[in-house]
Amino acid sequence: MLDLSKIDNGELKLNYQNFDFVSTLISALVTFEAEIERKNIEIRGLEDMQSVYIDGDADLIHQVVYNLIENAVKFVNENGYIQFIINDLPDKTEFAIINSGHGIDKNDLGLVFDKFYKTDKSRSIDKKGMGLGLYLVKTIIGLHGGKITVSSEINKYCRFDFYIPRKTPKKSRHENKVSKLENKNAKLPFKKGDSEK
Ligand SMILES: Nc1ncnc2c1ncn2[C@@H]1O[C@H](COP(=O)(O)OP(=O)(O)O)[C@@H](O)[C@H]1O
Ligand SMILES: [Mg+2]
Repeated sequence: MLDLSKIDNGELKLNYQNFDFVSTLISALVTFEAEIERKNIEIRGLEDMQSVYIDGDADLIHQVVYNLIENAVKFVNENGYIQFIINDLPDKTEFAIINSGHGIDKNDLGLVFDKFYKTDKSRSIDKKGMGLGLYLVKTIIGLHGGKITVSSEINKYCRFDFYIPRKTPKKSRHENKVSKLENKNAKLPFKKGDSEK
């Protein structure tokens, strides 16, 4: 279990690795397999998911994903859905988890990341949760230089979006193409434009 006091007094050191975010996501998800089946939840967005490597503390990011999925499974309506979206960008990886169901009331939206915060609705659904999950999630993402936001439409969905920045920006496909072209040009005895000098 995570040492909360270390997080609170800023002593937690990140153990940076380059790891597959999708594996982390799936390993967290299978923990909830029984409950997903019991509630007959449709899992969306993982059909053709490729590996997506990110820079971060693999254990802590696992905690993040685990907490978000735990909430989604807890608050999704029966026969509803949980959807994952991953957007791999040159400088960061964006992630979204959406679940159908009651969602979060407007007045609560700004409070759910607070330490020990639980909505009234949630207090009636589950007595176990301490209201710490999202506080941890936000803190861990912040330590990675990322950001998390929440949005919701009542009786439709609840959605959490976050991103994790890349330590060294990846070249985009476009940049790769350009640099291949430049390499080709480099092999030519003279470069385009030389004759104009
Ligand atoms: N996916 C979700 N759908 C609806 N409400 C949510 C969802 N995730 C979080 N919440 C609300 O935010 C509160 C805080 O979440 P969290 O910090 O994980 O605490 P806990 O799970 O212990 O209640 C929850 O009690 C609940 O009211
Ligand atoms: Mg929780």
